[in-house]
Amino acid sequence: MNKIRKAVLPVAGFGTRFLPATKATPKEMLPIIDKPLVQYAVEEAIDIGIEEIIFITSPSKYSIKKHFDKSLDLEDRLIESGKHEFVEKLNPSKFSKIKFHYVMQHEQNGLGHAISLAEDLIHDEPFAILLPDDLFFSEDSCLSQLKRTYMNTNSSVIAVNRIDKNNIHKYGVISPGIQEANSIEILDIVEKPNADEAPSDIAVCGRYILTSSIFKKLKNVKPDKSGEIQITDAIKLLIEDETVNACIYEGEKFDCGSKLGFVEATIAISLRDKEIGHKVKDLINKL
Ligand code: G1P
Repeated sequence: MNKIRKAVLPVAGFGTRFLPATKATPKEMLPIIDKPLVQYAVEEAIDIGIEEIIFITSPSKYSIKKHFDKSLDLEDRLIESGKHEFVEKLNPSKFSKIKFHYVMQHEQNGLGHAISLAEDLIHDEPFAILLPDDLFFSEDSCLSQLKRTYMNTNSSVIAVNRIDKNNIHKYGVISPGIQEANSIEILDIVEKPNADEAPSDIAVCGRYILTSSIFKKLKNVKPDKSGEIQITDAIKLLIEDETVNACIYEGEKFDCGSKLGFVEATIAISLRDKEIGHKVKDLINKL
């Protein structure tokens, strides 16, 4: 079985919902307390053994590269001024062996298009996709749960969770086949269906492990109504040739692509913070 060594993180979106904050700062760099959203996803990937991170980004998002580059000047200054405890925050040691790649997506042609741009760096290996807007919290991370299903089945696997009918139109939705433990065979998948046409209440959340055959399928996907190439439509084609499973994610999930989800994540994470957690609780009670 091929090891999963590479992860693709699409980060080229405009972040319109968070304007004006995203005018000069990429949405993915907005912090949940003191860590940018994108770093949570990068750490989740590194923690399952990913060695190469491929950002699909845009020229205006240079701060993402700056964030993951080692900052030696600042490190020296911190050491000189005796602030050793901040060095690990500045240049985390877990990043030191990771290769970061930045591929430019000049047009916004959808998630599938973004992923297709990673083909030359992935070649024929299975790989992970993490959508940084979706923030997951669990002892055993979402990607780690996917990896386990991948190891057990040697097939592509997508993270899913149950969503109420009112919100199902925002997600890719699967038609479920046989379920074994928390893994379900996907019979079909549809991108953002109307509630009355959705094949189930089981929705795709932003983590995937896919075989490289997806790149061939992406070449055959036609643009949707809004002109975008959807990864969901390529997965639909992949199912014709290969088993693709869904792994029911166990843990907390925050949709940080929406303001409400972002605030919810900020509150939940701050409540768990050793330094400020109890004060945040008092603060919330006071408000
Ligand atoms: C993307 C996918 C969708 C998936 C969702 C999870 O949609 O296209 O299938 O359910 O991520 O967050 P987006 O939220 O980028 O519109």
